[in-house]
Amino acid sequence: MSDSTTSGPDNSVGRRSVLLGGAAAVGGAALASTVAGSAYADVRGLPGAGVGRLRDPFSLGVASGDPLPTGVVLWTRLAPEPTAADGKGGMPNRPYPVRWEISEDERFARPVRSGWEWARPEEAHSVHVEVDGLRPGAEYFYRFRVGNDVSPAGRTRTAPPPGHMGDLTLCFASCSHFGDGYFTAYRRMAEDEPGLILHLGDYQYEYPASDHDVRKVLGPETRTLANYRQRHAQYKTDEDLQLAHSVAPWLVVWDDHETENNWADEVPEQPDPDFLDRRAAAFRAYYENMPLRRSSRPRGIDMRLYRRIRWGGLANFHMLDTRQYRDDQACGDGYGISCEDRFDPNRSITGEQQERWIMNGFRNTRARWDVLGQQVFFSKLDLDSGPGEGYNMDAWDGYVANRDRIAHGMANSNVRNGVVFTGDVHRHWAAEIRDSHDHPDSPPAGTEFITTSVTSGGDGSEDAQQGVLDDNPHVKFYKDRRGYVRTRFSADELRVDYRTLDHVTEPGAPARTAATFVVDDGEPKLHRRN
Ligand SMILES: [Fe+2]
Repeated sequence: MSDSTTSGPDNSVGRRSVLLGGAAAVGGAALASTVAGSAYADVRGLPGAGVGRLRDPFSLGVASGDPLPTGVVLWTRLAPEPTAADGKGGMPNRPYPVRWEISEDERFARPVRSGWEWARPEEAHSVHVEVDGLRPGAEYFYRFRVGNDVSPAGRTRTAPPPGHMGDLTLCFASCSHFGDGYFTAYRRMAEDEPGLILHLGDYQYEYPASDHDVRKVLGPETRTLANYRQRHAQYKTDEDLQLAHSVAPWLVVWDDHETENNWADEVPEQPDPDFLDRRAAAFRAYYENMPLRRSSRPRGIDMRLYRRIRWGGLANFHMLDTRQYRDDQACGDGYGISCEDRFDPNRSITGEQQERWIMNGFRNTRARWDVLGQQVFFSKLDLDSGPGEGYNMDAWDGYVANRDRIAHGMANSNVRNGVVFTGDVHRHWAAEIRDSHDHPDSPPAGTEFITTSVTSGGDGSEDAQQGVLDDNPHVKFYKDRRGYVRTRFSADELRVDYRTLDHVTEPGAPARTAATFVVDDGEPKLHRRN
């Protein structure tokens, strides 16, 4: 399926792949029968033969990510007992050889690449296959095998060739708390059959079970490697999440909760002498459970997560990490407050090196759309309706100079259309970014689209926040329902649908479009279409 045949936001889904037609639920057995004695036959002579006795080693599904024009990362993790408290997923303490193959057709009649990767206990038996030698802008199917067990098949795609301007349907999401509700939004995203999915953080939460949970969260507050591995595994057992991973490549970045609420570089939320060990454990488990390249493999307390993915000539995705390098939150990390500190030009949410990297990206871009995929509210947002002022110190409003330098760079560089995609706040918002927010007459620099949560916060409300919208004229939309954002990139416009679900505390809600905005090429303004 080429980009041009991907169903657009205004169309009902046309072609249904095997993945969505119910076959996603078909486990290894059915697929195994179609490949018996074929491409996988050579697995039997290798160490690890006999692992067929493991109870479904592919209980966590499959995923792909970080596409290049000629390659993509394929991911899985062996876990026959996915939620084991020791985080080992029920795997024995030895490596297993995992066979992978990638094909242009869903039946794997013509695999174009295949190979082996070790699933090692020191990486929680995860595998990250960096496939190369693929065709640009093409759709592929992939699957894994260990012993006699075959994984469900996933669909992925490579990035288009340099300069290519074909349309792209992209969905993005953030903030999926397992206990707060059902991951229906992930299923609805999958049904849109996007070419690319962005996850902007809070993929999981560190908290233990609470009385308000509608689904039982396993394990204590995550602090150790075993805790984080178990938590990731519990999330990955969710069928809606597995489906979303299996239909398209993902670009993931974390926010705070994959480690701990509101952490800032080496500073935990509350004093904790063991925080750096905790951070290293969280990073390691995150890498193990995400379709990331080896260049993102953590080394101790460091992990390079910010990176750039090019989508032909249509878009560059600058995926940011606003946690690992930031200065501690200003004004005592308050919410709805202000103080002089937040204007300090030496304070940074990106760190110096990442800021330089962003600016270089802006200077050298030739893309039609330049997208920052990142965690926290970028535009100015005065949360105090009425004469007072109050800001969120965990967001870019707590790092005003850093924000204004980047907004200014966006408006005064080779960036043709600057766009920011954001998560974190558990509400849908839309905003126009000003070159400087403190000079309301300053020219618009770009547009920002903030997605609500997948589940965090529960069903939501009809609260309209009219006072906040009135106080922030550059902010054009607010909605307190769960969901995700669906976008359609083309050479002429960016179309953005705010998708909402009426409830998440029960499964199965349909998704509706609460608002549509269009940005025309060359004009950083929001035009509301419904
Ligand atoms: Fe969140």
